[in-house]
Amino acid sequence: MKNILIIGAGGQIGSELTTELRKRYGNDNVIAADLANSDKFVHIDVTKYEDIKAAVKKYKIDTIYNLAAILSAVAEMKPQLAWNVGVSGLVNVLEVAREYHCSVFTPSSIGAFGKSTPPDNTPQDTIQRPSTMYGVTKVTGELLSDYYHTRFGVDTRSVRFPGIISNVTLPGGGTTDYAVEIYYEAIKNKKFTCPIAKGTFLDMMYMPDALNAAIAVMEADSASLKHRNSFNVTSMSFDPEILANAIKKEIPEFVMNYDVEPIKQAIAESWPNKMDDSCAREEWDWKPTFNLESMTKDMLKVIAEKNEKGLI
Ligand code: NAD
Ligand code: SER
Repeated sequence: MKNILIIGAGGQIGSELTTELRKRYGNDNVIAADLANSDKFVHIDVTKYEDIKAAVKKYKIDTIYNLAAILSAVAEMKPQLAWNVGVSGLVNVLEVAREYHCSVFTPSSIGAFGKSTPPDNTPQDTIQRPSTMYGVTKVTGELLSDYYHTRFGVDTRSVRFPGIISNVTLPGGGTTDYAVEIYYEAIKNKKFTCPIAKGTFLDMMYMPDALNAAIAVMEADSASLKHRNSFNVTSMSFDPEILANAIKKEIPEFVMNYDVEPIKQAIAESWPNKMDDSCAREEWDWKPTFNLESMTKDMLKVIAEKNEKGLI
């Protein structure tokens, strides 16, 4: 990776991936792009092939992180937009990558699985019949990415991210957003109303590990990769009770109650409880560094500091 383009750089993951890649590769070698026209971003609408091509040519891009997507809960309300951004947008990225010889990272998700997938220790290669529009775009994205690799030799790689927990940019309308919001509410109000039911287990990951995964898979020796799109990766699995109890250890007065949102709950129930990420560990040395306890301490510390400064 020499000249990197991040599409969707203003989002939860993109905002922190931009900072991390600039630390590693230099400010001038990492171009941040998003829909917004601003000083911070080059304008790219991923559904516009010409936007992507112009940026790739202008900045001599060799690696594209394509993070533009419509997350699961929003995609249920706007299925056509989810398809246009997640699938038509990806085809545009892959076509430009084919022409200009770029590597491409397009994240998949736990959302690429469905109710007929084995929910515990979900294998790398297994049944993928998602019941959500988000999942349909993610499975299609995995297939397209593998197709452009085998048919045209485009260097496509990716991971199936679990719910990502972070303290810089708020998440953009996913089912796992509750696991971020709970920390902000714990600091601000010492209470949280959870939209996901007790006993609903999902894979999760703290942002520093997610950034490492996205970079490590792209830096891996291609000869060691048996899989490409996409690798299961996970750090921890919990339900809302376990998460609330971890917060209570740090803030004993914290209380959580439930007001389950049916659409989010149905989505969460269709996703795995815990994925098996041994292929990522074997093929490119994936290893997370944060667990629930260390992530919780760090999240609460950072959000409390922001709160004291009046930033949230
Ligand atoms: P996000 O919603 O926070 O950010 C997405 C970004 O894409 C936004 O900045 C948005 O402006 C931009 N975007 C939307 N439409 C666009 C378009 N037409 N052209 C260009 N940009 C457009 O999402 P995120 O959480 O940062 O997720 C990034 C990727 O990681 C997505 O593919 C998502 O599915 C995947 N992922 C995220 C999580 C998570 O928990 N955050 C988990 C699994 C997978
Ligand atoms: N965090 C994402 C979502 O809930 C998972 O891919 O949509």
